[in-house]
Amino acid sequence: INIPQFRKDLIDWFEKEQRNLPWRKNQDPYRVWVSEIMLQQTKVDTVIPYFNQFTKSFPTLSALAEADEQEVLKAWEGLGYYSRVRNLQTAVREVVENYDAKVPDEVESLGNLKGVGPYTRGAILSIAYNKPEPAVDGNVMRVLSRILLIEEDIAKAKTRKIFEQAVRELISKENPSYFNQGLMELGALICTPRKPSCMLCPVQDHCTAFAKGVEQSLPIKSKK
Ligand code: ADE
Repeated sequence: INIPQFRKDLIDWFEKEQRNLPWRKNQDPYRVWVSEIMLQQTKVDTVIPYFNQFTKSFPTLSALAEADEQEVLKAWEGLGYYSRVRNLQTAVREVVENYDAKVPDEVESLGNLKGVGPYTRGAILSIAYNKPEPAVDGNVMRVLSRILLIEEDIAKAKTRKIFEQAVRELISKENPSYFNQGLMELGALICTPRKPSCMLCPVQDHCTAFAKGVEQSLPIKSKK
């Protein structure tokens, strides 16, 4: 794989073809954070109206920190997995207390916040702060398993680290934000779980699975 060319092809495609999503309006780390928490167990189309209403009700990190927990839960009603929003409010209160209401831009501090795992941490650091950190979720594992022909079992917890290492080697140091969002967008629009649209893929030339005709057999996921 020609890494500089891969980066360019991915980022050029993302610049041109990205969906106009409300959390892409700016790079406010608080909004990126809210969006990534909502998107963890919920589809984009469902998240959009909730994200718009939530950020209208709680426009800033401080507003969410000060809000009544019942009001916050009500704004989340219908999204499910309510521990997500309880953890989020706990974490933003911690940010107000310990970090002067500014979302931390360092791996350690950010990752120690309630509900901020490696994926969310990497998404905030790369998308909001443009730091070259991996943000590996199931979609990114699917995309990279095909491009790099990685045959590790994605159902295993240990496997994410293998993909994180791959991203560390591949990621653009110029534009980590668009690189990571490009991987996510590719997984959503082109490199889908079933019947990926390889003929429309901006990185088809770089994809080992496509070259071998095995894209439909990847990623490998055991039942467990
Ligand atoms: N899925 C996870 N994060 C996303 C994002 N920032 N945009 C679109 N889909 C996503």
